[in-house]
Amino acid sequence: MGKKIFSGVQPTGNLHLGNYLGAIKNFVDLNNDKDNECIFCVVDLHAITVKQNPNELKNNIRETVATFVASGINPEKSIIFNQSKVRAHSEAAWILSCTARTGWLSRMTQFKEKAGKDKEKASVGLYSYPVLMAADILLYDSTHVPVGDDQKQHLELCRDIAQKFNNDFEVDNFFTIPEPLIQKEFSRIMSLKDGTKKMSKSELSDLSRINLTDDADQIINKIKKAKTDPQPMPSTYEDLDKRPEAKNLIGIYSSLTGMKLDKLLNEFSGKNFSDFKENLSQVLVERILPISKEIKKLLNDKIFLDKILTDGFEKADKVASNKIKKIHEIVGF
Ligand code: TYM
Repeated sequence: MGKKIFSGVQPTGNLHLGNYLGAIKNFVDLNNDKDNECIFCVVDLHAITVKQNPNELKNNIRETVATFVASGINPEKSIIFNQSKVRAHSEAAWILSCTARTGWLSRMTQFKEKAGKDKEKASVGLYSYPVLMAADILLYDSTHVPVGDDQKQHLELCRDIAQKFNNDFEVDNFFTIPEPLIQKEFSRIMSLKDGTKKMSKSELSDLSRINLTDDADQIINKIKKAKTDPQPMPSTYEDLDKRPEAKNLIGIYSSLTGMKLDKLLNEFSGKNFSDFKENLSQVLVERILPISKEIKKLLNDKIFLDKILTDGFEKADKVASNKIKKIHEIVGF
């Protein structure tokens, strides 16, 4: 049986290799399986949990759509829309926030990381963001949610919310309990400057990430400058675990080429990092450059990008409005 796929990406600019390998590449594979129904959401409501410049946000929404299409998602086969247009998302998020427990939310590690030391200054939205994410998923009876490893805890919370709502209101199976789809290996791409930190849009140094809009020179330069250690390339799994930067670069190579880790370790064991980095740059340029060029081309056609969003809105809104109506009945409105 086909899967009902739902996933979201924040339109906060600087979409990078982590977003691509952790999520978007998998969206493309799932979209290519004709048995699946896929919905890919540009989560602009999530974006405003931290301050955004309104004009930049507008551009970043289009750029996220352009990135989906440039990466190979076919808008004829998948629904692509932006979250804020389908009102049911905000509404369901409120209702589900009355099901979710504060104790559950307090355990979310991403909030702790993003809020930093001064939690009192974080927006309420940043705190309750996983509830909105649960609303996104549950409104569409999604069965599978492809995400990177950093979203795993939010998906567990979504499952808990769905289960509690079904139990509290005695509506067995009303909300489908979704399964996460997280890659087994290298589901968390790390910063090129620090192998213990996630590659992220918000990291100040642009050298820490490969952006999906980088050109060949930028990619080659960033890989050249990527942090490594003074030893030659690792040869065993144990060795890899002790050397986070080497592990990350090898992981990126393996994810892009599909080459098994054993084979990679064999091939490069004991060699200099510079040889490996040259190979890695080549593989990256081959994969990322066509995407980067296509994003830039698509950004010139705002009408096309906006049409994808309005078509997507119509389809998504139908499904979500229907579900929220049922939620109203269940809750007693
Ligand atoms: P966001 O916008 O931070 O990231 C989008 C996707 O990219 C993945 N990702 C990574 N994967 C591997 N390595 C990395 N360094 C890396 N950085 C980001 C994320 O895991 C994600 O899959 N809350 C979500 C968006 C969202 C959502 C949803 C996802 C909102 N509603 C419903 C699934 C279902 C977020 O902020 O992702």
